[in-house]
Amino acid sequence: MQLYPVGIIGTGKYVPERVITNHDLEQMVDTNDEWIVTRTGIKERRMAAPDQATSDLAYHASVKALAAAGITAEELDLIIVATITPDMFFPSTACLLQDKLGAKKAAAFDLSAACSGFIYGLSTASSMIATGMYKHVLVVGAECLSRITDYTDRNTCILFGDGAGAVVLGQVPEGRGFKAFELGADGSGGELLNVRGGGSRMPSSEQSLADRSHFIYMAGSEVFKFAVRIMGGAAEEALRKADMDKSEIDLLVPHQANIRIIQSALNRLNLSEEKCMINLDRYGNVSAGSIPIALAEAVEQGRVKEGDRLVLVGFGGGLTWGAAVVVW
Ligand code: COA
Repeated sequence: MQLYPVGIIGTGKYVPERVITNHDLEQMVDTNDEWIVTRTGIKERRMAAPDQATSDLAYHASVKALAAAGITAEELDLIIVATITPDMFFPSTACLLQDKLGAKKAAAFDLSAACSGFIYGLSTASSMIATGMYKHVLVVGAECLSRITDYTDRNTCILFGDGAGAVVLGQVPEGRGFKAFELGADGSGGELLNVRGGGSRMPSSEQSLADRSHFIYMAGSEVFKFAVRIMGGAAEEALRKADMDKSEIDLLVPHQANIRIIQSALNRLNLSEEKCMINLDRYGNVSAGSIPIALAEAVEQGRVKEGDRLVLVGFGGGLTWGAAVVVW
């Protein structure tokens, strides 16, 4: 079978207007700006307006990605939305987005791999284009994490924000595009990071509400240890598959969970901060939205040039992880 080279041909991002600073959080829980900045690197995050849901954020990011790619929504063959905060159980957020965009010819589905969802989505879309099944696929990472964040829990509420990033994937010239993916999961760690309520195991009830089980639960230090181990490891494995050395990386675009986790990955990869896209100080952790927002912002800032070698890497609930090596 002939395989076509596949790459990212357009990027876009959208974050809601409302800014929640660390000082705002000081009014809600027993915390302070200094603790949050030194332990996480986060200074502020965005919060969706009451009338905005995940598909609305996804829509704005997607419109920009389509414009950057120079194609219309009708030219899309498939839409994949990676999210843990869908508008509703079903229809999928991807179907809601398909309708908003008027992408009449596109198939659409959501993908659930928490903060690794965007990388999982890239690898799925890339395979479909490489084999010639599809020409253009929209991959979106979008979240309204504020809707599942417990603003009485200082261990978690300081971390998360809302936003969306989108990319259009298509064929690219020989030598460019995706070189390797590394995906992984360890379901035995599912208890460390989850939302337990509202599913088939624990349907919504007065008790599930009273137990606050519709909010994110996180065993922070356990997830931290896993993240430190897996970020560098997944990136190294993807580089090995791409037959590339870490010294060849022009830009690392990591999941934006905690500056200390990013720094440990930089140490392991022997990279300086200049070779890393960091925007968690302004947006916090946007789960599946973090990597595509960071990527779109790197492109906006002119930090990505033709021929640059990028490594995208993330980890999250599941537990899951994913890394991609792409030549721009
Ligand atoms: N403000 C002030 N103090 C806080 C606080 C807050 N927002 N949150 C926790 N603390 C306190 C704790 O209660 C604890 O106090 P104690 O020692 O009296 O019990 C102390 O600070 C240290 O807590 P600890 O959990 O050990 O801090 P930490 O250095 O591990 O940082 C996280 C906590 C959550 C920032 C860190 O564990 C982390 O980033 N984990 C990974 C999170 C992540 O990546 N999640 C998303 C995955 S996609």
